[in-house]
Amino acid sequence: MATVTMRNIIKIYGEFVAIKGVDIDVEDGSFVVLVGPSGCGKSTLLRMIAGLETISHGELRIDDKLVNDLPSRDRGIAMVFQSYALYPHMSVSDNLGFGLKISGVNAGEIDRRRDEAAAMLGLDPYMDRRPSQLSGGQRQRVAIGRAMVRDPEVFLFDEPLSNLDAKLRNQTRIEIKRLQRELKATVIFVTHDQVEAMTLADKIVVLQDGRVAQIGSPLDVFERPRNQFVAGFIGAPSMNLLDATVGSDANGPLIRAGGIDVAVPPDRFDLPPEGTPVVLGVRPEDIVPEGHGSRPTLGADFAAKVNFAEMLGNESLLFAHLGDTEIVARMQHPRAVDPDETLNFRIDGSRVHVFDKQTQDTVLR
Ligand SMILES: Nc1ncnc2c1ncn2[C@@H]1O[C@H](COP(=O)(O)OP(=O)(O)OP(=O)(O)O)[C@@H](O)[C@H]1O
Ligand SMILES: [Mg+2]
Repeated sequence: MATVTMRNIIKIYGEFVAIKGVDIDVEDGSFVVLVGPSGCGKSTLLRMIAGLETISHGELRIDDKLVNDLPSRDRGIAMVFQSYALYPHMSVSDNLGFGLKISGVNAGEIDRRRDEAAAMLGLDPYMDRRPSQLSGGQRQRVAIGRAMVRDPEVFLFDEPLSNLDAKLRNQTRIEIKRLQRELKATVIFVTHDQVEAMTLADKIVVLQDGRVAQIGSPLDVFERPRNQFVAGFIGAPSMNLLDATVGSDANGPLIRAGGIDVAVPPDRFDLPPEGTPVVLGVRPEDIVPEGHGSRPTLGADFAAKVNFAEMLGNESLLFAHLGDTEIVARMQHPRAVDPDETLNFRIDGSRVHVFDKQTQDTVLR
């Protein structure tokens, strides 16, 4: 097992700076998930750690050893890609053992590691099959097994589940987490799937445009997003963001948005002076349709016509307008909603977020 330490890592492709000075600490045996929109630099960063891409500036350490110029094969790293890249003409068994064989590992040791990986991944029944005779999920397990037999210090995964259907994705996700715990492995895992990030990570790194936007536990980045970008990126559907101004009444501070006054707790924010433009952030689950969940004590009521309802079975997503902004609210224990039905909603003022209009940073205390 190993730690991975990145200090001011920069990647420049010609004129283009893809990674703009990144500092990340990956602790021994921890599961770190890199998330961010397409093109933000997730794969580039992972490939630099793997040694598949040179590091333009900065320092990369595995344990305490500087590895910037160490060849990929000497870094003690195994990488699993989105495309499984199995050898099509080889059996599962040979796919698992091939890397070890060319590294000169003796036959007895290859068998031992192969059997262990196959047992952990439930691949025993398929050892003689070719990749073309396997399902997508089975192929992905072979790809993971091929990484495991190398007994790496660090596992790198680049969107390994994105070719799988929803059910298999969930199963394989749970399997990867279980394996990581059993092996006490250090894992760096790239995804843009919300659920994967939240459920797998000990620590989430949100990347934006080649920079770290926030690092924290899943709960941390969800409950205390540092800025508007992280607030909008973490959580599905996204947090509602509304133009607002700071106000107050006899009971304390409030945020004015879309023609309503949302009372907020006096000690939650460092609010700018009254009248200052800000951005109000409200998660869909914090806009509670009347009769669907307990009524938040602090907040604001409004009535709105439902433009569209997305029924998901266990909940519905209701799209409506608050002022000029289209918002989405979450209806727990849903009932059928008629087209154009008007509902009463209450915003939970104790859970809202407020962002500085200029810097887009949170003013959460
Ligand atoms: N070899 C290259 N030469 C020039 N630019 C590159 C090269 N590889 C990647 N880039 C650019 O670097 C940026 C980051 O790419 P990267 O593949 O790391 O994104 P990503 O976060 O993995 O995106 P996705 O979620 O779509 O996989 C992109 O703007 C991309 O176009
Ligand atoms: Mg990528």
